[in-house]
Amino acid sequence: MKVSVLFVCLGNICRSPTAHGLFQAYVNKACLSDEIFVDSAGTGAWHVGESPDKRAQSIALNKGYDISHLLGRQVEPDDFFKFDYILAMDTQNLHDLSNIKPAQSKCTLGLFLELANKESILNGILEVPDPFYGDAEHFEKAIQLIESGAKNLLAKIREEHDI
Ligand code: 4NP
Repeated sequence: MKVSVLFVCLGNICRSPTAHGLFQAYVNKACLSDEIFVDSAGTGAWHVGESPDKRAQSIALNKGYDISHLLGRQVEPDDFFKFDYILAMDTQNLHDLSNIKPAQSKCTLGLFLELANKESILNGILEVPDPFYGDAEHFEKAIQLIESGAKNLLAKIREEHDI
């Protein structure tokens, strides 16, 4: 593996598994699954071992992405050494991750959309808002942001790592 990417949100049942599933689909389509390792995790532990939220699963499936096999887990200290990129869905997640990042870790820790959209028209939209307490509209907004962000992120990583 040349590059590893960990998507992080609060519960690891809505936004980060969606980003995980979509980004993995783009990696697979580009025949780069031997080069890029993808995973997701939550800063919280409430949903460890659980499948993604049913609403996140169905909105992803509507767009052709099956994320039903993913299982929630919590971020752990080792992640800061295993992953090249740890990408947070919102500023609270980023804050929480910064607080537990070991000083020796060399990973790139940042906001998913900030890193992904730097050169895009979506530059300025920095967060994927938490849809958990929202309705279908909030899940739709989240997957739209994740879809374009994940595509941009793959292009950026391919360029940076020459793959
Ligand atoms: P996520 O959404 O961080 O996108 O997975 C949430 C899921 C669960 C909770 C909060 C946000 N929760 O409070 O249980």
